[in-house]
Amino acid sequence: MGSKIVVVGSSNIDMIVKVPRIPKPGETILGGVFATAAGGKGANQAVAAARAGGDVGFVARVGEDMFGEKSVQGFISDRINVNHVKIDKKNPSGVALIFLGEDGENSIAVASGANGVLSPEDVYSARKVIESADILVLQLEVPLESVRSAAEIATKAGVKVILNPAPACPLGDDILKLVTIITPNESEAELLTAIKVVDEKSAERAAKVLIEKGVETVLITLGPKGVWITSRNLSKLVSGFVVKAIDTTAAGDVFNGALAVAVAEKKSLLEAARFANAAAALSVTKLGAQPSAPVRKEIEEFLAKH
Ligand code: RIB
Repeated sequence: MGSKIVVVGSSNIDMIVKVPRIPKPGETILGGVFATAAGGKGANQAVAAARAGGDVGFVARVGEDMFGEKSVQGFISDRINVNHVKIDKKNPSGVALIFLGEDGENSIAVASGANGVLSPEDVYSARKVIESADILVLQLEVPLESVRSAAEIATKAGVKVILNPAPACPLGDDILKLVTIITPNESEAELLTAIKVVDEKSAERAAKVLIEKGVETVLITLGPKGVWITSRNLSKLVSGFVVKAIDTTAAGDVFNGALAVAVAEKKSLLEAARFANAAAALSVTKLGAQPSAPVRKEIEEFLAKH
């Protein structure tokens, strides 16, 4: 059995339209290919962690509909513990509408559905699983009070908390103090610190602000450039890998899932970031969120070659 990871977060079905470019407001664009894939930041991170070798439990809500059923079947086939994935009879499963440009970049709108009512009570009902985990992984696609409850349970039990602050949302120091590792991208780092992250120096300044607010370690993801790490004894860029991007959707999620496994396995921060960068690089070479998350063997073979 791998290291124990619990993910509390969202599950969506992604409806993807390939477009020559992202349409402007009021504009209609023709010619797109349509695809669906399992997605949602929480579910993507859970699947990525399971495929990277973690023993994963997922705490979430899906609707009592075709999408919810399909998502749960996917979790089970990835050997994820779904005891705390509730079937919501009143709200539909989350849906994300994704425009995917030819350069692999995207634009996403989410109808939260059942994700929006994942409650602190749902989180408390998973208390024992969170307390016995090595790492708790959180994002911000479910209500903030539920994110806070999960982080409090973990912190009291001495479980490390990884927070991927996506989608971007202002966070109080009360939550940031509960976070062991935070993993914003450039724009999320800017929203949390009011520092525009454009290069290594500005990434370091933003990271220091988050450390002063009580976070132990800050990893700012910089797309293909890699990841900036600031911790007590470390301030360094870990370079990313150059690959041909087909679809960058969920690259950040795959990064976080793989990072959780590497940290739980007690790899050094530098090794963990390299492992997570490799998983994220592999993910952008395939279409779709969960379909693109690589398995452990693929990550190790990629690392051996680079
Ligand atoms: O991070 C990518 C994810 O964001 C997609 O899978 C979509 O569902 C949205 O939640």
